[in-house]
Amino acid sequence: APAPRETFSSRKLFILSAIGSAVGLGNIWRFPYVAYDNGGGAFLIPYLVALLCAGIPLLFLDYSVGHRGRGSAPLAYRRLNRAAEPLGWWQVLICFVIAIYYAAIIAWAAMYAWFSVTKAWGDDAGAFFDSYLKTAPADQVGLSFDFVSGVFFPMLAVWIIAIVIMVAGVNKGISRANAIFLPLLVVMFVILVIQAVFLPGAMEGLNAFFTPNWEALKNPGVWAAAFGHIFFSLSVAFGIMVTYSSYLKRKTDLTGSGMVVAFANSGFEILAGIGVFAALGFMAAASGQSVSEVAGGGIGLAFIAFPTIVSEAPLGAILGVLFFGSLVFAGLTSLISILEVIVAAFQDKLGWSRKSATLIVTVPIALISMVLFPTTTGLYLLDTSDAFVNQFGILACALVTVIVLTAGLTALPQLQKHMNRTSSIKMGTGWRILVGGIAPVALGYMLINEIQTKSTEQYSGYPAWFNGVFGWGMAGALVVGALLLSLIPWSDKSKLNDPEYD
Ligand code: PHE
Ligand code: NA
Repeated sequence: APAPRETFSSRKLFILSAIGSAVGLGNIWRFPYVAYDNGGGAFLIPYLVALLCAGIPLLFLDYSVGHRGRGSAPLAYRRLNRAAEPLGWWQVLICFVIAIYYAAIIAWAAMYAWFSVTKAWGDDAGAFFDSYLKTAPADQVGLSFDFVSGVFFPMLAVWIIAIVIMVAGVNKGISRANAIFLPLLVVMFVILVIQAVFLPGAMEGLNAFFTPNWEALKNPGVWAAAFGHIFFSLSVAFGIMVTYSSYLKRKTDLTGSGMVVAFANSGFEILAGIGVFAALGFMAAASGQSVSEVAGGGIGLAFIAFPTIVSEAPLGAILGVLFFGSLVFAGLTSLISILEVIVAAFQDKLGWSRKSATLIVTVPIALISMVLFPTTTGLYLLDTSDAFVNQFGILACALVTVIVLTAGLTALPQLQKHMNRTSSIKMGTGWRILVGGIAPVALGYMLINEIQTKSTEQYSGYPAWFNGVFGWGMAGALVVGALLLSLIPWSDKSKLNDPEYD
């Protein structure tokens, strides 16, 4: 007989792992500049509205699908409705693409923690970043695969660590890794924020960050940014929360746990905003520029602005180790959760053991990512696949998911009943309205916006064929792939019974 399905040995470990997944690069490098760009202190209002009206309700949706369905994303959706299986595979494939480049960012961050000590970038962090990744100008992007060993070996290390954790399983691997990495991350990050707040000029940065621009609230784009960020930050509709909650014991307080996860994630985000803007305030003061001139987001913020701060700040090496170390730990716990979505799906569908599923799934992903990213084209592949699959594909996937579940009339009431059976905070009709009404409107608006901008301007100035293949092509291929994977027969048909009755 097959081994019984693993469960988290305690709710605490589930919560730790779910927070570990939610708290990622998005909290550290994305939230601060999204908030700053969209009204500063005033952004808190759309942010809270998005969190309460769409983020948390959708988080509960993921939890109830996974916990009720007691399976990986494809199995859990299928157990809700036969026709919903492709939704699960779509999420699996999105995770597959994300895993390929997520590991690269973690590897860079690990190298940058070391570079902070050796002060490898001298006084030109921008030029150093280009030379470290051996980048080419954006309009000359092609497929050149010159090997960059300074990226390859740290990636190899990241993959070995991730695979060892995954092979060990839910309790010995995932729970344990999160129980170590998450506290470590929190401690490092708190020290970082304290150090940053005491830098000269920090208050200017915090003023810039928190000063409310109330006018911004009249701009629908600001509201869309808030919803978009919340979806990404809580990792809803990636299959992650479905998978993790499927490992919870039957009688678990789902909504209470979800609240803890959601508020921990937001708390970390706001802390990151304080730390990052305190540091940017220092940089602005040191370079005689305004905070808005030095503030950037994403890769530029982490790998160019921050290294510059590290070079100039008192005890900069410590600041750098804390910052890049935080990126490594935040990233690793998210990478693990992304991989688990894929591993669990193949385990369920093809009846593989934990160990075989992990190795058959993660080794090829590791190889693909180690072939693609330590190359001169890696950065651009990352940029395009992130923009299309992560930001655009995920919106489409989330939208289709809420529409399918709402249209399948029985799904939402069933999930609601399931949640209320064991949860402390009960969900009423309001929850169904938020999931079936508010969420699709917000997602639909953002998706149309995304499609318009991505089709009218050439993304990042890359050649059209490049965005066509690695952007649109990749996003479309995932949908086709999801439908094909759904056609593969289940190795054990008895799995498809409704878990409510087994
Ligand atoms: N939620 C993570 C963050 O805020 C990002 C993430 C997305 C992680 C998808 C895993 C999967 O950084
Ligand atoms: Na997050």
